[in-house]
Amino acid sequence: MAGSALRVAGRQLSQYSESGAPILLRQMFEPKSCTYTYLLGDRESREAILIDPVLETAHRDAQLVKELGLRLLYAVNTHCHADHITGSGLLRSLLPGCQSVISRLSGAQADIHIEDGDPIHFGRFALETRASPGHTAGCVTFVLDDHSMAFTGDTLLIRGCGRTDFQQGHRPLSPARDLSMVIWVPGF
Ligand SMILES: [Fe+2]
Repeated sequence: MAGSALRVAGRQLSQYSESGAPILLRQMFEPKSCTYTYLLGDRESREAILIDPVLETAHRDAQLVKELGLRLLYAVNTHCHADHITGSGLLRSLLPGCQSVISRLSGAQADIHIEDGDPIHFGRFALETRASPGHTAGCVTFVLDDHSMAFTGDTLLIRGCGRTDFQQGHRPLSPARDLSMVIWVPGF
């Protein structure tokens, strides 16, 4: 899995929200599954979330959360696949208080099941949940509430998009086409 954070055309991948509140952002990589994991945090409240943690690097992610003095509220997953096993379960035990999150349509177990339109709050920020089926039927994209960033998971990769012929693949829909419907709308 090689998820990507989109930049809205003409905007930088800013570490500041539209209101000027500084958001903490870290991009991390796991080479075996080619997964990008994102840590987002509120510098004021110290509340944080992880997007798409994987099992191999759960200890690394937990250590970073501790070093930065953050409190991890949620380990959030864009989707569920056998070629990138989530680190949510291990993170729940490494960082008590952390809850796992995934879409209801994924069919996977989690503390919290989300659906299109559900917000995920951390400190002064929130992620908007947008259904983006294609790579799997339960894929979601998370959009930061100031609309400066979108976290797509495998639905849209760097120079490509995720396959649709594997484990809940949703043919003949095109992940890229579906994602464009989800994100590239007026007022994104
Ligand atoms: Fe995947």
